[in-house]
Amino acid sequence: MTEPGKTSPPAPPAAPDGVAHPRTIRSFVRRAGRTTTGQAKAFEQLGPRFLLPYQPQPLDFKAAFGRDAPTILEIGFGMGEATAHIAALMPEKNFLCCEVHEPGVGALLKRIGEQGLTNIRIVQHDAVEVLENMLAEGSLAGVHVFFPDPWHKLRHNKRRLIQPPLVARLASRLQPGGYLHCATDWQPYAEQMLEVLNAEPQLVNTGEGYAPRPHYRPLTKFENRGLKLGHGVWDLVFSKR
Ligand SMILES: C[S@@+](CC[C@H](N)C(=O)[O-])C[C@H]1O[C@@H](n2cnc3c(N)ncnc32)[C@H](O)[C@@H]1O
Repeated sequence: MTEPGKTSPPAPPAAPDGVAHPRTIRSFVRRAGRTTTGQAKAFEQLGPRFLLPYQPQPLDFKAAFGRDAPTILEIGFGMGEATAHIAALMPEKNFLCCEVHEPGVGALLKRIGEQGLTNIRIVQHDAVEVLENMLAEGSLAGVHVFFPDPWHKLRHNKRRLIQPPLVARLASRLQPGGYLHCATDWQPYAEQMLEVLNAEPQLVNTGEGYAPRPHYRPLTKFENRGLKLGHGVWDLVFSKR
């Protein structure tokens, strides 16, 4: 209740229809985390080449990667373990990777240096805004969203990335025949993903229901630990009509 003489704080703005995530609802919290000396060095030495600034204008892929190649967007790469593995496996593709967690960005820069990767560019910014403002319609060959934060509590479910407005926007950025690959180890979120992706008219399931893990997605340390404990993992691969 508001104390006498004080006004209530303004209500957060409602989400206009079709807005992927209203500005007040983020799919992440900025976690504190220590950047190691190795990561700091990677920022200093490799940042200028591999980090792209967020800009509210369409990105020129050719200028950013120095070549024309099919481009895959990755949302929330964490410490970049799967990202580096996949980029090494597919040198013919460009990987545009978004993450907000600074030590994660440092970790991926470090892997880029260690593995001599040249086909990754990182935007350290909210992927929802990158998608809305930096990526043109029909510009992507694929999208990877691996183990997005499950936001277990019901009142936090609205922070989940895989919801109809964001999926519609992701699909619009894909080229015809491009794909959206999501994976999660949280069954209720897997069920939500399947329902939302099935309902998106621009997308079609490449299989029936959940997909077998595509060969390129590695089993990360975290996932292996879960599997040993008997937890499930669900992959979903849809393609753009
Ligand atoms: C649970 S972790 C999974 C990381 C990684 N994909 C993996 O499989 O290990 C989810 C990551 O997504 C990032 N993230 C969440 N929402 C994001 C957004 N809107 N833009 C960029 N990164 C985001 C978080 O910072 C976090 O590092």
